[in-house]
Amino acid sequence: MTPAARVQAAAEVLDRIAAGTPAEQALLGWSRASRFAGAKDRAAVRDHVFDVMRRWRSTAATGGGESGRERMLGLLRQQGTDPDTLFTGQGHAPAPLGAAERAGGHVPEGAEALDLPDWLWPDWQASLGEEAAQAAEELRHRAPVFLRVNTLRGSVPEAIAALAAEEISVRAHPLAETALEVLSGARKVARSRAFTDGRVELQDAASQAVISALPLAPGQRVLDYCAGGGGKALAMAARIAGPVEAHDANPARMSDLPARAARAGATIPTTQTPRGPYDLVLCDVPCSGSGSWRRAPEGKWRLTPEGLAELVAIQATILDTVVPLVAPGGTLAYATCSMLAAENHQRVAAFLAAHPGWRLSHERQFLPSDGGDGFYIACLTALA
Ligand SMILES: C[S@@+](CC[C@H](N)C(=O)[O-])C[C@H]1O[C@@H](n2cnc3c(N)ncnc32)[C@H](O)[C@@H]1O
Repeated sequence: MTPAARVQAAAEVLDRIAAGTPAEQALLGWSRASRFAGAKDRAAVRDHVFDVMRRWRSTAATGGGESGRERMLGLLRQQGTDPDTLFTGQGHAPAPLGAAERAGGHVPEGAEALDLPDWLWPDWQASLGEEAAQAAEELRHRAPVFLRVNTLRGSVPEAIAALAAEEISVRAHPLAETALEVLSGARKVARSRAFTDGRVELQDAASQAVISALPLAPGQRVLDYCAGGGGKALAMAARIAGPVEAHDANPARMSDLPARAARAGATIPTTQTPRGPYDLVLCDVPCSGSGSWRRAPEGKWRLTPEGLAELVAIQATILDTVVPLVAPGGTLAYATCSMLAAENHQRVAAFLAAHPGWRLSHERQFLPSDGGDGFYIACLTALA
């Protein structure tokens, strides 16, 4: 496919997304109907689509309308690409621009320019203060690819060498001792020996930093209460070089965990009836995902005030539920991939107000300007 044909394909996929089809489904539908498209074409169309979704509001502004074609026009304008080089009408390229399209578009301002919903902007500012605009701006750009070195399978230098042998270039990232940022060859990672042998896992650097912040030690009984795919359970198992129990309200979300654990050389028994006491219970709770909207931009536009209130209520219930599972003197670690105070600091403050037997021993908010996703971690200690 030509670069112009890829732009046209992305515009068509964006129209389906605007009509309500989830992005992955819209991309899959296009891919199945486009057998002529090679791996590079699919990757390029996907990149266009996700670039626009990160900038859903501002591309409509700079492109002069809400169709996929106008949003792609808006994206090209923001990227400084002359649209006339692609909107040629030749072959499968988009039709040439009309006079109205040439004259259309406006310079976005405020929350529109920062690609946040208007309703969220006041909360965003209250949560992030002076960092608010920068944090929103970071979410308008692609996220780096990070790997976690699995120390159960070898050292960081050994993992770097194994990746280099497969032409995957990485550098250590300061957010966590195990974090490597992929500089080139990211698309080769999932098929590399380093990955299939369990030396490395795909995991955001701030997600790794959250695990580094936990008071973990070998020999502890540890529970990952909201384990999902198990990324954090695996990272904790590597840190304590021992088993970590995994629980999730939706056990199907843990279905890949046995294979991932086997690859990593980790022991992660799953349970639906966790029995305390545990030295540490991690609650990586369901949240708005506002810290990871670079990777999953659809969430930014799906979130509503009602949806956020529901999430906050679920977070409160989960915290209350795990209290009896934590040993006296043990740790309840509360984590979100959010940057909103309602899900983070305010949630923890409400917990402490309702549970006098607990104290906050550590908390940290990670922002995309630190390099990884936005994450929050609070370590709550049960007074002995
Ligand atoms: C943010 S995800 C966890 C991600 C995972 N820890 C990781 O690192 O890959 C939140 C998980 O919480 C689970 N969940 C939702 N409500 C829950 C509840 N009431 N109790 C336990 N888990 C719950 C969801 O099914 C989801 O898998």
